Amino acid sequence: MILSLFAIAVLACSITCFETLSTSSFVSDEQPQSLFIANINLGTPPQNIPVMLFFGTYLPSFGQFILNKSVQGTNEMFDLFQQQIGMTNYYDLDSSTTSQIKGNYESVQEFSGAYGGKMTGKYVQDVLQIGKLKFEYYFACAQQITSLNKAYSGGLIFFQRTEDNIFDLMYQQKITKTRDYILQGSTYKLNGFYFSNIGYDLKILYDLGSNSQYYNYPPNQLVPNSDLFEMYSYGIYLEGEDVSDKIKQKRIQIDQLTDTSGLRFDQITIPSDLFQIIVSKYDYVESLLISNCTQCQCDRAKNLPKITLITQEYKLTIDPSQYTEYYEEKDLCKIKLSQQDCFNFAKSLIFNSNTQVMYSKQTDTVRLIGAQTINHANIDAIKYIFPIFTAIILAGLLFTFSWTIYQLQPLKLEQIQLKEKLNIFIKL
Ligand SMILES: *[C@@H]1O[C@H](CO)[C@@H](O)[C@H](O)[C@H]1NC(C)=O
Ligand SMILES: *[C@@H]1O[C@H](CO)[C@@H](O)[C@H](O)[C@H]1NC(C)=O
Repeated sequence: MILSLFAIAVLACSITCFETLSTSSFVSDEQPQSLFIANINLGTPPQNIPVMLFFGTYLPSFGQFILNKSVQGTNEMFDLFQQQIGMTNYYDLDSSTTSQIKGNYESVQEFSGAYGGKMTGKYVQDVLQIGKLKFEYYFACAQQITSLNKAYSGGLIFFQRTEDNIFDLMYQQKITKTRDYILQGSTYKLNGFYFSNIGYDLKILYDLGSNSQYYNYPPNQLVPNSDLFEMYSYGIYLEGEDVSDKIKQKRIQIDQLTDTSGLRFDQITIPSDLFQIIVSKYDYVESLLISNCTQCQCDRAKNLPKITLITQEYKLTIDPSQYTEYYEEKDLCKIKLSQQDCFNFAKSLIFNSNTQVMYSKQTDTVRLIGAQTINHANIDAIKYIFPIFTAIILAGLLFTFSWTIYQLQPLKLEQIQLKEKLNIFIKL
């Protein structure tokens, strides 16, 4: 019986069992990196503080940290940056009953203009609650800011490939079922920003059941000795026309919202030879914007080609709507393509298509959840087959359950008789 209930729980879990961490992008014109703000609960009683989640490879060398309330007033410039983003509720380690000071902390000096800064404080361990799940978190807690060139809200938490992130810590403390997580993005409209009029929301699904249907999607391995997931596009099509033979660079990089150096957040990179083919057909693409088109509403942009890529595992499409953006106030249409030696459109996949990207740290693989798959079990079919399958199993269990109840009486009798026999046997 217990086994049956367990089976039902496992089945239900494989469909819906996960936790969600909701974040939204930190909108700032001079912050091209993939920074997202999430609310976490730190300490006991829980203190709700906003922190910045930083996805990437080129991370500030001063590392991750949480700011103690006492940083206020220690650096005038930094106070100003923090005020600009409306930062008010800091963590206060002294009013948490579970905080433990573990030693002195001094960050390295980060010299780059992009991040800049240095701070000092204590190493602290305290209870961190993300969603419903609680675990022990060991972190650098800054008490004093020497310099920081940007606002960092209540602290900075990294998601990088080489070091443990918060989900790895939860898994190590046996709080979660797996260390894998899925990035699921959506956009919303913003008003009055110069560089972009789109805001980004990012949901991170974690504590995924290891038998969940997400694992049915084919995995792609990390490139050895690198920090990159790479696919190879065997077929490249422009509006259905096969241009594969004309494109030398066929690699697709799928990385973790990594800040491709020097590029804005929402850019899509395509190989330069493909870019040139597009320019030869649509000359206005070269200027990367269509201006002076009163009320054109990006009509010309709508005629741009859909790019289709066939990899060993997936069929991926880049629709013109993913690489164009219309600015109503300025009556211009921006084309967000840039040329490099490979395709890179992970952000666009996550935010502008129905695809979600799943990272598995243990196996160092990435899966594109919801993408069209090739030569593998048709994932769409699983969606329909799965509930039917579940229903059949449930009916079976129900039947077994009734049958067991029905059989219980005679079974008990038999057991008693058997026990008596055994007793006699032992006595003998
Ligand atoms: C943390 O901040 C609070 C509030 O400003 C302050 O009272 C406390 O002394 C600080 N703790 C440390 C260890 O700096
Ligand atoms: C914009 O449109 C106006 C009116 O049609 C025209 O006179 C002007 O030359 C155009 N400017 C550019 C940069 O195309």
